[in-house]
Amino acid sequence: MSDDNITVEALARLENCDDPRLKLITTSVITHLHAVVREVEPTLEEWGQAIDFLTQVGHWCDDTRQEFILLSDTLAVSMLVDTLAGRKPESATESTVLGPFHLPNAPELSFGANISKDRIGEPTLVTGRVLSIDGTPIANAKLDVWQASAEGLYDVQEPERFPNMNLRGIFYTNGEGQFGFCTEKPASYPVPTDGPVGAMLKALGRPAMRPAHIHFMVSAEKYQSLTTHLFVRDDPYLKSDAVQAVKDSLIVEFKQLDNPVEAEQFGIPSPYFKVNEDFRLALAV
Ligand code: BEZ
Ligand code: FE
Repeated sequence: MSDDNITVEALARLENCDDPRLKLITTSVITHLHAVVREVEPTLEEWGQAIDFLTQVGHWCDDTRQEFILLSDTLAVSMLVDTLAGRKPESATESTVLGPFHLPNAPELSFGANISKDRIGEPTLVTGRVLSIDGTPIANAKLDVWQASAEGLYDVQEPERFPNMNLRGIFYTNGEGQFGFCTEKPASYPVPTDGPVGAMLKALGRPAMRPAHIHFMVSAEKYQSLTTHLFVRDDPYLKSDAVQAVKDSLIVEFKQLDNPVEAEQFGIPSPYFKVNEDFRLALAV
């Protein structure tokens, strides 16, 4: 076998695959991987390092750590998939990456509940509505919410302090499509750098910071689910997000308010920050 026909022969071996999509994807993967090797001509040692790196990425994954998502995110592949696969009508709220810190089974909480367990950060009230793109309120829409603390850490990064979930919750909209919850103002934070992806970023001389944000996964019957963030306006890292996930329409103001009546209604001290933002869902196709 010569280097001329290795690729041709590898592609020919897909001949008996009767799943056309799988065949198309595998053809593309082999074609592009072979093109990389032809261009770079890695030494055997370099190829060994590449295999070792991917092995390490796998070893770092468990129920609370997803190093493969982090790799996809930091190479901007997640954002490219999101952009191409998540095309929606213009008036629908834009999506962005899921990230590696979503956990299934967050606690279901009632309107106005506080997702901050220690209440140490700056008190923040988040309100809004879930609407269809024509502005009709959607009742009983589900919002799965998660965020990093005021210290820039997710609960799973400090399990001794927060063994039972912190800064996570599931909320449902009321009959007018409204939701509301209390939290602490999120901080910007570095993506996890203690594993192989962190070593990769360091070797590439790349900063690891993400701008402060709250994550939302919004879903409702008959509508396309939306995975997105709300970013804090004026954050210094908005233009240099390590995973290129910022979209202008998702940058919102955390307005400082001194309104003791509303604060008391939600059981938080005044002054506090308030975000009021609607999510618009496109109909399922
Ligand atoms: C996050 O926002 O939680 C996140 C996204 C991508 C990489 C690391 C963290
Ligand atoms: Fe995050």
